[in-house]
Amino acid sequence: MMYRIAVLPGDGIGPEVTAQATRVLAAAGRRFGYEFYFQEGLIGGIAYDATGQPLPRATLDLCRSSDAVLLGAVGGPKWDNLPVHLRPEAGALLPLRKALNVYANLRPAVVFPALAGASTLKPEVAEGLDIVVVRELTGGLYFGEKKREEIPGGQRVVETLVYTTQEIQRVARRAFELARKRKKKLTSVDKANVLESSRLWREVVTDMAREYPDVEVNHMLVDNCAMQLVRNPKQFDVLLTENLFGDILSDEAAQLTGSLGMLPSASLGDGVGLYEPVHGSAPDIAGRQLANPIAAILSGALMLRHSFGLEEAAAAIERAVAAVLEQGYRTADIMEPGKHQVTTTEIGRLIAELVERGE
Ligand code: NAI
Ligand code: MG
Repeated sequence: MMYRIAVLPGDGIGPEVTAQATRVLAAAGRRFGYEFYFQEGLIGGIAYDATGQPLPRATLDLCRSSDAVLLGAVGGPKWDNLPVHLRPEAGALLPLRKALNVYANLRPAVVFPALAGASTLKPEVAEGLDIVVVRELTGGLYFGEKKREEIPGGQRVVETLVYTTQEIQRVARRAFELARKRKKKLTSVDKANVLESSRLWREVVTDMAREYPDVEVNHMLVDNCAMQLVRNPKQFDVLLTENLFGDILSDEAAQLTGSLGMLPSASLGDGVGLYEPVHGSAPDIAGRQLANPIAAILSGALMLRHSFGLEEAAAAIERAVAAVLEQGYRTADIMEPGKHQVTTTEIGRLIAELVERGE
């Protein structure tokens, strides 16, 4: 079976980390008998420099005709002063997500046993943490009508929060399906005591729960959820929420695990899925073999699981990452006394070797 993967390395450390992710995917392909066909496209500042556009038409066409997209990161000081529609983030990332209509953003927060000490939480609170935030990505406050006007004494702004039944259903279904494959526990997060959109959210989730009698569902207000995440995060398995709440809660959940360099993400719609590390282009360490490629490598594992249904290969990559950490190898960002510091390329090679050997 052959899968076509569009690879968009982007700026800064993007090319360094995507190179290791494709190396590990290729190793998984050899081990399990799949062929991955990688085609590179330009995105971000490097695309702007080459074509005048941060998201060239050719890149969009490549993504649309692929089975999945692996993205590195975009942006950097060189492009910070461009008009907003030409800037790598606003001009490339948001339009790409919109073009692929990826409405469900999955952000796992996993504490690897070897790194439990890196969390800011007490070890007994952090150890064994394994949760996923499912955030609605294409609706809500970020995409509603906005207005700014002069009024006596200053200005007045309006932001609108819009959700339809159908928009809630499609992301909720993703979360229920995911919960069914995990610990069968779903927490839907809203602000139903104040917001009408949250009341609709709660109604839709409650209705859908009838189709998933095997999944235990509870509803939680977002302010309480923010507290529970730092107090007792292991009470959760799948957290489902709307765009703004999800933006904040997924960053909060991410920090429970320690390093930005370990956090993958998947953005899913009904077509091509988009997989990217949570971190940015890290211009401060770019080109120096200091970047941790594990976030990108784990994004590749999410691609195998969610776009291709290759659970065995996805799990093999995740096990290899855990094993390499267990053996004491660390990139600079997660380095601790007594461990072996290795480069971006070296840790990628170690993980790829374990994946291919099947240990
Ligand atoms: P950043 O995530 O690039 O870096 C924050 C800090 O974490 C830096 O000290 C960096 O060295 C470190 N870091 C990040 N990823 C790492 C990794 N894999 N291994 C080791 N250390 C890592 O965020 P920052 O500095 O706010 O933004 C830098 C540029 O990236 C900006 O132009 C920003 O707009 C862009 N950005 C792009 C994103 C994307 O492409 N999805 C997301 C966030 C920021
Ligand atoms: Mg955020």
